[in-house]
Amino acid sequence: MSNAKAEITGLVEELNDHNYRYYILDDPVISDAEYDRKMRRLEELEKQHPEFKSPDSPTLRVGAPPLKVFSTVEHAVPMLSLDNALNKEEIIAFDERIKRALEKSHIEYCCEVKLDGLAIELTYINGYLETGSTRGDGTTGEDVTPNIKTIPVIPLKLQGNSMPERVDIRGEVIMRTPDFKALNQKRSEQGDPPFANPRNAAAGSLRQLDSRITAQRALTFFPYGYGVLSESLGMTHFEIVQQFKSYGFKINSFMRVLDGIDKVIDYHSEMIELRNKLDYEIDGIVVKVNDLTLQKKLGIRSKSPRWAIAYKFPAQQETTRIKDILAQVGRTGAITPVAILEPVNVGGVTVSRATLHNQDEIKRLDAKIGDRVIIQRAGDVIPQIVKVITELRDGTEKPFHFPPLCPVCGKKVEKIEGEVAIRCVNLSCPAQVKERIKHFAAKRAMDIDGLGDKLIEQFVDQGLINDVADLYKLQKKDLLKLERMADKSAENILDAIQESRHRTEDRLLYALGLRFVGEHVARILLKAFSSVEELSKTNKEELTAIREIGPQVADSVVSFFEQPENIKLLHRLRTYGVQTKQLHVPSDDTFSGKTFVFTGTLEQLSRKEAQELVEQKGGRATSSVSTNTDYVVVGANAGSKATKARELGIEIWSENDFLQRAQQS
Ligand code: IVH
Repeated sequence: MSNAKAEITGLVEELNDHNYRYYILDDPVISDAEYDRKMRRLEELEKQHPEFKSPDSPTLRVGAPPLKVFSTVEHAVPMLSLDNALNKEEIIAFDERIKRALEKSHIEYCCEVKLDGLAIELTYINGYLETGSTRGDGTTGEDVTPNIKTIPVIPLKLQGNSMPERVDIRGEVIMRTPDFKALNQKRSEQGDPPFANPRNAAAGSLRQLDSRITAQRALTFFPYGYGVLSESLGMTHFEIVQQFKSYGFKINSFMRVLDGIDKVIDYHSEMIELRNKLDYEIDGIVVKVNDLTLQKKLGIRSKSPRWAIAYKFPAQQETTRIKDILAQVGRTGAITPVAILEPVNVGGVTVSRATLHNQDEIKRLDAKIGDRVIIQRAGDVIPQIVKVITELRDGTEKPFHFPPLCPVCGKKVEKIEGEVAIRCVNLSCPAQVKERIKHFAAKRAMDIDGLGDKLIEQFVDQGLINDVADLYKLQKKDLLKLERMADKSAENILDAIQESRHRTEDRLLYALGLRFVGEHVARILLKAFSSVEELSKTNKEELTAIREIGPQVADSVVSFFEQPENIKLLHRLRTYGVQTKQLHVPSDDTFSGKTFVFTGTLEQLSRKEAQELVEQKGGRATSSVSTNTDYVVVGANAGSKATKARELGIEIWSENDFLQRAQQS
């Protein structure tokens, strides 16, 4: 093997492994900067030696030049749809039909959530992803292979040693709600129309002729079915999906095998409760006869199998009336028109407000005060107005006019170049101050238990606090000034505030509420920088060198810390005792710059402890051996990795060698 070829093979294997650890296991063992360096090296090598480019190269994840049209793909086994059950009677009738046909007293079902995205088929030939196609009309779909390859959770090559010649894996491509919200936010700032729901966003992103656009959209995938399998992968539906897990897919965590229809009905109720807590949308559950032999006996109808059914959740759309439209000032000063609705029950929750996003959206919907409207509640997204029923107008409807001044502080508003939103630019506007503090105290930020929205509003209105740092100066006597504040409640709140001083550093960054810095981005940033202070000293180049950090986040971070008020705020937080814990920092540099692979069973440390020790000492632990590996630590029963290390001439250590060196410093 030529050197370049060996290096390419090593890098492909290693980078795919890091991808798997990052996206599937949520357990990365390499810094983003390091990942990027390796990616760039691979790109460079592939450019010099295109003949060695592998079909599972991670460089394919960035997308390919645009197509003119999609070609079509025939599904070897038709992609069916599902019959629906809309209530308990219908699901019981389904179970009765099956029991009768099979002459059984009860049936084992595999239950899954019904994901609201779009169905696709992935064909793997000898373990390599060959084609990705949409469902289309069930028989013929569109070939979206380059787009599919950009989805990080879809393996380009299946894991494992012996691969069936052909495996068709089917499942749903979805967009998670936070990613959907971020995408729409960005689109509205760029003047593009928002997507109506995550499903449309997922479909629109996947059906792009330019896969480089798909690569920028956060899509994910869960497998739940199959087409052609050249060999048997199990006796039950559940077993087959477990096999997909061992191939390197992420399996939806709500998949359950349940005995009898009563348990299925309970599962349905539990999922209705959970529905709005998930970060992706589901619109029901799917109930499948688990045993494949029984499935075969039951057979299919023209469009749907007899052995499966979708048990839908109650509707999430209703009609109501817009009583009024108010202008609400958010955390960043953006002024959002909000429709005040006649309260209506949508899928079990009373809705009395819906966002209208911005002026353009009001225009697009042609919404007026007094209009009858169809509203929709989806996942944890704020209820939305889908459509105005203009046919029901009686002429008394009134248009909404955007206020010329901030409705809260009365100062001037501005339309920022390139953005749709109109903003109040007064940073001390009480509305903005309150929203920033609410965000800071929220569960996912500093998690100050008991400090709810109402209390924060009172604190600000009474002049007790003007920013988040003031929270840490509050005293019991201040709190007792508030109406109906009992001694004990005041103490509890103060305790909760004190306790929040020791959250992790990434939460503090998230809590500060920089634009485009959500929880995930905050975590990425605080892995690259040891503290918010370190981050405040960085520049755009350094930031964009981090994997997953784009120019938009970089600009936002830089401009936040360019403002002296923000630096001052951070400084005050620290002086008042906010000393958050670091995410992780090397404690010394014994293994600085060295890459380790652990293989076999260690006796004195767990694999995780060993990896942590390496990181504490400034090194990295990866899971596959390549030319970049410095040391391979072998435990009992080490297999192919030890052999490969020997072949590549990499230094091999025993567990004792490792512990001894780790202690030398
Ligand atoms: S199974 C033969 N399982 O629902 C059964 N479908 O109406 C074929 N869907 O086109 C589908 N979650 O887009 C199945 N866990 C799940 C699903 C699921 C969502 C969608 C899929 C399909 C549609 C059928």
